[in-house]
Amino acid sequence: MTADHPKVLFFGVGSVGAVYLYLISKVASTTAVCRSNYDVVKEKGFTINSTIFGNGLHVAPNVVRSCEEAAAQDSRPFDYVILTCKVLPGIYPKIIKSVVTPGHTVIALLQNGIGIEEEYLEAFPNNPTLTAATYCATVQRPPGVIAHQEVERLEIGSYPSSAPNTHAQAFTSLLQQAGATATVFDDVQAKRWYKLLLNASWNPICALTQSSDVQFMQSSEDATNFVLDVMLETREIALSQGYDIARAEVEAQWERATRRVATGKAVEPSMLQDVKAGRKTEVEAIVGNTVRMARAKGVPCGKLETIYLLMKSLDRRMGGGA
Ligand SMILES: NC(=O)c1ccc[n+]([C@@H]2O[C@H](COP(=O)([O-])OP(=O)(O)OC[C@H]3O[C@@H](n4cnc5c(N)ncnc54)[C@H](OP(=O)(O)O)[C@@H]3O)[C@@H](O)[C@H]2O)c1
Repeated sequence: MTADHPKVLFFGVGSVGAVYLYLISKVASTTAVCRSNYDVVKEKGFTINSTIFGNGLHVAPNVVRSCEEAAAQDSRPFDYVILTCKVLPGIYPKIIKSVVTPGHTVIALLQNGIGIEEEYLEAFPNNPTLTAATYCATVQRPPGVIAHQEVERLEIGSYPSSAPNTHAQAFTSLLQQAGATATVFDDVQAKRWYKLLLNASWNPICALTQSSDVQFMQSSEDATNFVLDVMLETREIALSQGYDIARAEVEAQWERATRRVATGKAVEPSMLQDVKAGRKTEVEAIVGNTVRMARAKGVPCGKLETIYLLMKSLDRRMGGGA
């Protein structure tokens, strides 16, 4: 790649990061900050087996162990820093500081959760922050090898939504040139709330019960309706924040999973995978922030409150954070 190409750093390159690293490496010069997969990726790059893009795909980025190492390699500033690590609050703005050039670098969060952006705006008030509802069913197993299937879609917007969306447009064009499915929205938080219907219900329920979605639905006659109730609580909280999701859309989301009981195509949400691996979960980004927003607006959400309480206790026993 020449100096005319955008310079992009991916921070936290696991399942989602590797898929977008593979795509963006076609149109930009890329650096990957890796941790547990550093040695294997440094030696062999990533191999991607994707039902959408093809099998045996390969990408060998510039791999580093830290942002400081990346910053020291070359004085040209990074145009984009893309975060594809799990969301653990209060940690990453400090870690990425050395690769964010004030007034230049665009920070893009390709992560789940709600209310995850503010800490970047506080740490980097002169840098555009982009945020994306990320649909990408992918897993890294073994390190450096990615299985990707079914869906690849980014719904992108500026944070806050009132900020100009010039950077969101440019980032989206870059992704589209790379072959990704990306769309810009004036208020992407609406898309984040919609995605949260799934994440705030299935993720902690499956993690707490050590069950796939299908196993949970089969566990008792009340289980399936419990999931719908949690989704409806999330809908009420979204409404309190100004996002009105039609009840029919909530039910459609829920029914999509209920149909899997018949097909037996079970899903293991990432929070369950994290707990199985003994890793810290995204409990605060996905459940904690949701509950806090409900409390601030006086929205009752007894089921989510209980889920949060139990999930926090489980999460405390997990190691392997940032
Ligand atoms: N996977 C999916 O299908 C999917 C779909 C949609 C959205 N998402 C969301 O996308 C985000 C990323 O998820 P993921 O599944 O890609 O996570 P992942 O596979 O766990 O990858 C995260 C990567 O970040 C690395 N990391 C964390 N802290 C680091 C640090 N201080 N320095 C260097 N590397 C660090 C981890 O390294 P270690 O291995 O050393 O911990 C890991 O390689 C999450 O918000 C998730 O909820 C995931």
